[in-house]
Amino acid sequence: MPRPDVLETLVSLAKRRGFIFQSSEIYGGTGSVWDYGPLGVELKNNVKARWWNAMVRERDDVEGLDAAILMHPKVWEASGHVSGFSDPLVDCKACKARFRADKLGDAVCPRKPSKQPGEHADCQLTEPRQFNLMFKTFIGPVEESASVVYLRPETAQGIFVNFLNVQQATRQKVPFGIAQIGKAFRNEITPGNFIFRTREFEQMEMQFFVEPGTDMEHFERWKQTRLEWHLGLGLDRDRLAFHQHTDKELAHYARAAFDINFDFGGTLGFQEIEGVHNRSDFDLRQHQEFSSKKLEYVDQANNKRYLPYVIETSVGVDRVTLAILVNALREEAVEGEQEGRTVMGFHPALAPIKAGVFPLTKKDGQPEMAERLASALRKRFPVFYDEAGAIGRRYRRQDEAGTPFGITIDSDSTANDSVTIRFRDDMGQIRVATSRVAEVLGRYLEADHARADSRLVE
Ligand code: GAP
Repeated sequence: MPRPDVLETLVSLAKRRGFIFQSSEIYGGTGSVWDYGPLGVELKNNVKARWWNAMVRERDDVEGLDAAILMHPKVWEASGHVSGFSDPLVDCKACKARFRADKLGDAVCPRKPSKQPGEHADCQLTEPRQFNLMFKTFIGPVEESASVVYLRPETAQGIFVNFLNVQQATRQKVPFGIAQIGKAFRNEITPGNFIFRTREFEQMEMQFFVEPGTDMEHFERWKQTRLEWHLGLGLDRDRLAFHQHTDKELAHYARAAFDINFDFGGTLGFQEIEGVHNRSDFDLRQHQEFSSKKLEYVDQANNKRYLPYVIETSVGVDRVTLAILVNALREEAVEGEQEGRTVMGFHPALAPIKAGVFPLTKKDGQPEMAERLASALRKRFPVFYDEAGAIGRRYRRQDEAGTPFGITIDSDSTANDSVTIRFRDDMGQIRVATSRVAEVLGRYLEADHARADSRLVE
């Protein structure tokens, strides 16, 4: 049975709680561009930090890079994007809508009654024409063809053109990788589904340079490594699946490719969140030819020189963030209460706020004690202090924000210097000495735990 479609619920929760807003909303919005609010930026930064740690910091065979968005225009000729990065587009002269010619079957005509493009009697679809997805702009004051530059449609090319710079600076030996996180831009014809397909997005890409002939073995290893990374984010195993590209689906540069798909539910269903590609030596060879600069790797130990093959792992920050939001959303009944609760059950390491701190009342020194504790904890974790409204309401607000721990200061706290920690996932509570709160939360975070568990307190 298909999982329910939760996108509408998420769009409204994301706005209400400050995860994600439509870009330039007060002007009516910019099509398929989104802004991350206070909780969204923390969540997205946590996703990026987790990727950077796993791919760069915890490995000695991958180096980091932050290449510029604007690159020499020849880069995109060499990469094949100027001639080939296009989708077939059809216009309808009757309703002025635009559709991807190869996806007409999935498209809906904007006019009522709801039909597919071409199905209304007066639809006038044009012949398909190729539409390049790169955004063009100009460098310098003169808008002429000689000054055209593109906003990069993928971060990968910044890595290819820096391959020898990084290799020589770090003295890495093949096999080794280069990783970067950065913005990419595509003038998508059919963007949509919230932050799933947007025109401005972020990618986390890694190019692993290997000796030709060893490429498929590295490809298999990276496939598994990347699937495990997604599982480590707390995405459900049965929502993740590999999809192998058929010959027809393979990109012009790819020798083999697998997508890691996530089940977003509803009509979207299983969709790509990451691509793992064997790009052969296509990109280095092209750049070598177009730049007339040798990009060979010199293997001195074995007296060989060659253009390495590249295994690429490419994941969209926004798309994986959407997968995390979809996976986390739970609407549950609460025993003894009429209203249920909405919980964002994020993996604790990804949660934008780690702890809410709540004085039970606004008197008897409780707010002062709570503020002291909050500011001590802030040195280690993002913490939210809240003294407004009934305690149940304050817990619910943090459940919706996905905050794993709620710390309550009550009359016993001021008498005994102890507080309760309430756990988001099972609403269980434990009492600990105030001086131990940071240490106990640290243990729970390390254990990826958001349920009461006395073993972590002893
Ligand atoms: N360098 C290879 C490359 O860019 P891709 O399959 O076109 O491959 C990789 O993109 C990932 O980037 C996708 O799996 C997806 O997560 C993300 N992505 C691509 N286009 C996107 C868009 N328009 N909006 C959001 N994310 C996108």
